[in-house]
Amino acid sequence: MADPFYLTTAIHYPNGKPHIGHAYETIAADVLARFHRLMGRDVRFQTGTDEHGLKMAQKARDLGKTPRELADEMSGHFRDLFDKLDIKYDRFIRTTDDDHYRASQAIWQAMEANGDLYLDRYEGWYSVRDEAYYAESELIEGEGGEKLSPQGTPVEWTEEETWFFRLSAYSDKLLALYEENPDFIRPESRRNEVMRFVEGGLRDLSVSRTSFDWGVPVPGSEGHVMYVWVDALTNYLTGLGYPDDTPEMAKYWPADLHLVGKDITRFHTVYWPAFLMSAGIALPKQVYAHGFLLNKGQKESKSLGNVTDPAELIEAYGVDVLRYFLLREFSFGQDGSYSHEAIVNRANSELANSFGNLAQRVMSFIAKNCDGAITAEAPVEQVDDQLRARVRQACAVELPGQFEKLAFAAGLEAWMQAVYACNAYVDEQAPWALRKTDPERMKRVLATLCGCIRDLAVAVAPVIPAASEKILDALTIPSEQRDYAALSANDPSMGTITVENPKPVFPRLELPAGEGGQ
Ligand code: MSP
Repeated sequence: MADPFYLTTAIHYPNGKPHIGHAYETIAADVLARFHRLMGRDVRFQTGTDEHGLKMAQKARDLGKTPRELADEMSGHFRDLFDKLDIKYDRFIRTTDDDHYRASQAIWQAMEANGDLYLDRYEGWYSVRDEAYYAESELIEGEGGEKLSPQGTPVEWTEEETWFFRLSAYSDKLLALYEENPDFIRPESRRNEVMRFVEGGLRDLSVSRTSFDWGVPVPGSEGHVMYVWVDALTNYLTGLGYPDDTPEMAKYWPADLHLVGKDITRFHTVYWPAFLMSAGIALPKQVYAHGFLLNKGQKESKSLGNVTDPAELIEAYGVDVLRYFLLREFSFGQDGSYSHEAIVNRANSELANSFGNLAQRVMSFIAKNCDGAITAEAPVEQVDDQLRARVRQACAVELPGQFEKLAFAAGLEAWMQAVYACNAYVDEQAPWALRKTDPERMKRVLATLCGCIRDLAVAVAPVIPAASEKILDALTIPSEQRDYAALSANDPSMGTITVENPKPVFPRLELPAGEGGQ
């Protein structure tokens, strides 16, 4: 039986259209999901939209819509974008789905039964944009002297009767969790941040609201809806059928990985494990907080007028180029700054000129000069063996090893070095010249290269799935030889290689007009 692997993204607020940050996180999760599938694991991958809360209610009011109408419309845009990005999820959850109300109320009741919920009066600061409560001591001062959240968002004074969760009772248990499971919070810098925060002592958390009604009703407490983060976090369980004892709960819970942005680490590594401990539910194995994507060094915002529609980037460069760029260019745990120049340079130098060119020149040479098929019978020479070993090491060991750690850029660097080694081998062995002087040796060189191209295309398939499939199709690699196990188990260069209709997969890109292009 294949090992199960349950992976989630944060669920996105559909209070507007999706932006590049949403695309970044979901692409990374999809790459991981595809990677684990190719490693032979039984993967479940969930993403979706987080539709309750004051932020949604206020935005809908401003637009003269109901929150439900706004959520329906915007959630559709997220789904469309994810289709365009080639995201293969198993469930797209909406927190307005019926089963989600049931799951959220069940976890609430479990926390209540454990004695962790009580009614009291909340008086304090709330940021609608962050959907977060802040202590006075956490606030910073804005340019005009106004109080702002640590994220720089406006805060408002809130007083109401709410339910509280006894978070203060969980400090020691949380610290023990982080100590005993050093991988629970990744990367290390985020783990340290969270530990400092919890060591400072935790206050009980207000977990219901009475001043608006756009949320999951608190069971047995009329007028109260749950604080949006209580229901939002529960989505990870809803998707598996909680509170029922479903086969999915048995197989996939606890989750292997919650992939989230660094701004929401606290919710996932403090509140969520405390809720789960209270409800007697096993804890996820890891929360990984990735960095933020910046546009030429700046945060995208409507006021700066620099918001990029990811659909336009797909239109301009193609989906595989965008996926590759985002994972290759930045170290995943850190912030990264992107620009059109950077996308075009990376795509041209690595995908078009190096990998794409390697695959195309070798395959089209076989198609044109060898009637589309070769069987190498000449002996394998040391240089051939060395290249095969180098490429196999990069594709079957180094890239997977880095991807297991979410070090995508390092994994792709190892892969790229193997591509360069193949191109150097082509130049040294010059198969085009061998055609006249030593046709048998030429076949051996071409076969060696086809074996390498198969390995390279399989290894990188999670990142550039469409291009990889086209290359493997042109090389007529059977579907069962397109995973990581096949890289060590079988070598196409030892049999007959048939090439069908190879076409260049990465056109050379130009900078769009207005971005420095003509
Ligand atoms: N709804 C909450 C998450 C609830 S999870 C139970 C939320 N939504 S969000 O739409 O604001 O953000 C969704 C995800 O996108 C978060 O992980 C967030 O960190 C990520 N990003 C938002 N902007 C981003 C960038 N500019 N760059 C990278 N990721 C960013 O938070």
